[in-house]
Amino acid sequence: MQAQLTCFEPNCRAHFPIDEVIYTCPSCGGLLEVTYDATTANAGGWKSLWRERRTSNTPLDASGVWRYREILPFDGETDHVVTLREGNTALLEGPRAAEYAGLDRIRFKHQGFNPTGSFKDNGMTCGATQAVRLGKRRVACVSTGNTSASMAAYAAAAGLDPIIFLPHGNISFGKLSQALEYGARTIQVDANFDQILALVRTLSEQLGIYLLNSINPFRIEGQKTIQFELMEQLDWHPPDWVVLPGGNLGNVSAFGKALREMLAFGLISKMPRLAVVQAEGSAPFYALMHGEGPFRAVAHPETLATAIKIGDPVSWPKAQREIRESNGVVEKATETEIADAKAVIGRCGIGCEPASAATLAGIRKLRRAGVIRGDDNVVAVLTGNVLKDPDYIYGYHTGTLKQPDGQLIAGAFQNKPVVAPNDTDAIMKLLEG
Ligand code: F0G
Repeated sequence: MQAQLTCFEPNCRAHFPIDEVIYTCPSCGGLLEVTYDATTANAGGWKSLWRERRTSNTPLDASGVWRYREILPFDGETDHVVTLREGNTALLEGPRAAEYAGLDRIRFKHQGFNPTGSFKDNGMTCGATQAVRLGKRRVACVSTGNTSASMAAYAAAAGLDPIIFLPHGNISFGKLSQALEYGARTIQVDANFDQILALVRTLSEQLGIYLLNSINPFRIEGQKTIQFELMEQLDWHPPDWVVLPGGNLGNVSAFGKALREMLAFGLISKMPRLAVVQAEGSAPFYALMHGEGPFRAVAHPETLATAIKIGDPVSWPKAQREIRESNGVVEKATETEIADAKAVIGRCGIGCEPASAATLAGIRKLRRAGVIRGDDNVVAVLTGNVLKDPDYIYGYHTGTLKQPDGQLIAGAFQNKPVVAPNDTDAIMKLLEG
């Protein structure tokens, strides 16, 4: 379909060609989104085409993003696609997690099964492709870790020069290591995510570096496919709820847009409700949606779920629209609630990083409050792989994990490793105990 960039602000809605290097509206400063001429939408034809492509081995069809290229920008022009066969992520049953949350059933869509271990790959393949199309050499982002890992990988694959800005001391070692391994120039700044984003936006403009944060509308387009793939896995029968963690709020913007488009194109016949869960110490969107005045940034966000340690999310206007349009809700969870929920997801044999577990913690609270019903059909999106933050896991299970205020987390599902002598009798005794 023919695509263009459109200002998100209802009073502006100015249009721009997709090859213009802009991240916000030049007329009013609003956020931008990709819009399509939907006259060529063909729900029935697309469903069978996308299914058929699953049997194809061409790189484009084997990608869980580009398989859905009819609903992505570039109108079939795919010469510049940068793919690491992203997407294709599993939808898994979590019976123990369902019991924990008070549900009959829960399913997890695990974006941690992506090439760099997070949902960012779905967006980055599209963003990196646009960088190549535009002839950009250098790409940049600020990140709490996953965006940078993903951008570094896709830039390396495309032969681009990645420059990464990180909040010094506030990202997990796993994620930092990925950026180094993929060869990104890595700059750790003594500031928080929100402060660095302002800095990087200025630097990219002045130095002509292509910005690949989720303010970039092409990232959002790629992330839409998480929902297209999910609905296809559910044979196009939408669940009652799609639940996800919220940080910079790019992903909820992508999910809401995907669901609205699927409804408009006739691919689904009802809209699931979106539920966003934030960490209690970094919850400006929760405050906004619970009527605590106009949007107000959290100056000093805190949470051990460092992926979502963001106080001034750029995409909040889009996220607000998507929550309203899907009759959605926003919840928040404490450090202990997130940590315990994460251990429960682990005990399902699934595992995820801390931010992802905010979903289950939030679902449990929403269930207890009667917002989600026990027999509701719930899908939680796990955004990052269990191996992203092993220090957190070790701390939790050994009772040494400290909250930002210094208090120890007394995890309900601790599982301490045991040190044993090299002695059969001693170990037998231990196993009988
Ligand atoms: N979960 C994980 C694992 C993340 O890495 C992020 C964001 C989110 C959830 C929140 O998604 O920002 O779209 O609301 N990580 C970004 C990063 C900010 O830099 O990697 P969001």
